[in-house]
Amino acid sequence: MRIWIGKSRWWIKSNVTAPHGSGGSSQPGFLANQLLNDSSGELCMSVLRPEIASLRNNGITGVALPRMTDPEMFPLWFGEGDIPTPDFIRDAAKKALDEAYTFYSHTRGRAELRETIHQYLNDLYNIDLDFNRITVPGSTMLGITISAQMALTNGSHGLIVSPAWPNVEAVFQITGCDYEHIRQQPVNGRWQLNMQDLYAAVRPNTRVIFVNSPCNPTGWVMTSDEQRELLAFCRERQIMIIADEVYHRTVFDRKAAPSFLEVAEPEDPVVVISGFSKAWAMTGWRIGWVVSPASWGEQWAAMSECFNTGTPPFVQLAAMAALEQGEPFVNQLLQQYAGGLDLVMDALGNHPRVDMLRPEGAFYAFPRIRGVTDSMAFAEQLADETKVGLAPGYTFGPGNDEHVRLCFAMSHDRLGEALRRMVQFIDRMPG
Ligand SMILES: Cc1ncc(COP(=O)(O)O)c(C=O)c1O
Repeated sequence: MRIWIGKSRWWIKSNVTAPHGSGGSSQPGFLANQLLNDSSGELCMSVLRPEIASLRNNGITGVALPRMTDPEMFPLWFGEGDIPTPDFIRDAAKKALDEAYTFYSHTRGRAELRETIHQYLNDLYNIDLDFNRITVPGSTMLGITISAQMALTNGSHGLIVSPAWPNVEAVFQITGCDYEHIRQQPVNGRWQLNMQDLYAAVRPNTRVIFVNSPCNPTGWVMTSDEQRELLAFCRERQIMIIADEVYHRTVFDRKAAPSFLEVAEPEDPVVVISGFSKAWAMTGWRIGWVVSPASWGEQWAAMSECFNTGTPPFVQLAAMAALEQGEPFVNQLLQQYAGGLDLVMDALGNHPRVDMLRPEGAFYAFPRIRGVTDSMAFAEQLADETKVGLAPGYTFGPGNDEHVRLCFAMSHDRLGEALRRMVQFIDRMPG
């Protein structure tokens, strides 16, 4: 069953979780049925803004939530590995707690952390950023949410370069804007974005283009030339680029992926967002940073105040330790991810039922599995029969229902076993 909701193109599969949001019931489809069948529920839901009432579990949490407490699962569904945050970062947080760094902090982040990020970015990209462009509002996720809130509203239009992490679509939905996905395509052995497709979709009321490079889930890496071209286009039309660069250190052929920071003018309408989750194994710490035009600084302070009133100060001190001492660990993690990628390519790269391009960055594989037409049904069956947890492709935007996403950040022995089970399962598929 497909249901059209409002002006956006969202739909619910009756046997599956609905595609939006990440909170809610751990029973797939429960909230959707509740909303559709239970009239008292409907009445209660009518209090909510329609954009909020129609939020649902996305496909990732749809597969994971009912199964994540099962100790036998191989969880390749979320974007994290199984190495904990290293001791030197945890020790910095413990020390900060012992020293009572427990009070409110500046809503744009502690000055010494912002200065450390400033130095890190200048060194990494060989640039000379204005310190006043940097804000630490909370998580990378929060940076994306606030950026979208700053520019999108009911009546405006946004574009999402896809396949895209489903939270981004939810963020756009919450603003009430109308939006579309512009899909990268596999061309000549790599995922590529046709810039003309993107430009053709722009409307007079387009206010934001969201682009994530290195990309979750395809591993696509945008080139500096493409970034320059998009910047020029958006500068002229005053469209905000939300550049999600949270995987900037997870690239396999160089130290960092090309960044909009290297090519943008200080007052270009671009927000570059990144964070500590992926390269420093700090997913649970909820801390990231944004670089915006300096003239938006007061707005960032005010938005940060509304959403989280700053980031916990002991977490900020731990993040400083990550940047100051973390380079060997970043490299160690990258070796693990590179080894994981080799395992995935060995298992799936030449499989006759699998079309898979080697990702250039991030730590996901996004194979298309021939014979799969319902990625959620495939992921649920795989999880129940083999205990391997993947993310269904449909949740990454239109055109992806023959794909699944798997995260290869896990330690190699466990990843190898998960891949063995997955290949056996695919081999048993009829047809
Ligand atoms: C593309 C992308 N952007 C942003 C985030 C959010 O990062 P954080 O956990 O640091 O908020 C993720 C997390 O998986 C992601 O994959």
